[in-house]
Amino acid sequence: MVKIAPSLLSADFSKLGEEVEKVTSAGADLIHFDVMDGHFVPNITFGPMVLSAIRKYSHLPFEAHLMIKNPEKYWKNFADSGADIIGVHIECEIDHISIIKEIQKYGKKACIVINPPTPIEKIYPVLKIVDMVLVMTVNPGFGGQKFIYEVVDKIKNLNEYRKEKKLNFEIEVDGGINEKTSKIAIENGVDILVAGNYIFSGKDYKERIENLRWKK
Ligand code: DX5
Ligand code: ZN
Repeated sequence: MVKIAPSLLSADFSKLGEEVEKVTSAGADLIHFDVMDGHFVPNITFGPMVLSAIRKYSHLPFEAHLMIKNPEKYWKNFADSGADIIGVHIECEIDHISIIKEIQKYGKKACIVINPPTPIEKIYPVLKIVDMVLVMTVNPGFGGQKFIYEVVDKIKNLNEYRKEKKLNFEIEVDGGINEKTSKIAIENGVDILVAGNYIFSGKDYKERIENLRWKK
């Protein structure tokens, strides 16, 4: 069954611990943290201190989606603060192979993230080693944006490539996921759905999470 990762970007920031507890008991599978530095994306969110303050509110894996210019400088801070999965963008000018290997050597899962305009071929060199691929279905920076349908072909190609090469990374999507777009993602081979606005704008988080799974 597809896994659900609530994105805290749309949670109530004045009570993050409580929000994390609520989505955990509502059946979420992991917690998604959108880390933004005002350079890689035009918005600023939170850093490792916030992650470590929230760590005790959930037993679920924490995923740090690093939308920052220098992930090579900071990923370890997030790992030490309780992140289990570290996501770095292919659009960052870093040595991706080395950073992915370092993250894994440190005992964490490594995820490569790709923005909507970036061709899928760009991530081919790391697909043999990554644990996860996060395909952005909005341009990163803000929650509550519309799903970009053109990215569906990229997801389809990635899923085919994975089958053909017998690779076993998980495919995750992020941006504009709701009960309609989640179905399209699942049908195209996605394993993990990140959803912010759709989950946190609902009164009943459990119902929202279940709607995304399309398992009825
Ligand atoms: C966008 C973030 C997403 C975003 C998802 O920069 O990476 O995680 O918060 O939010 P929704 O589901 O509201 O599009
Ligand atoms: Zn994200």
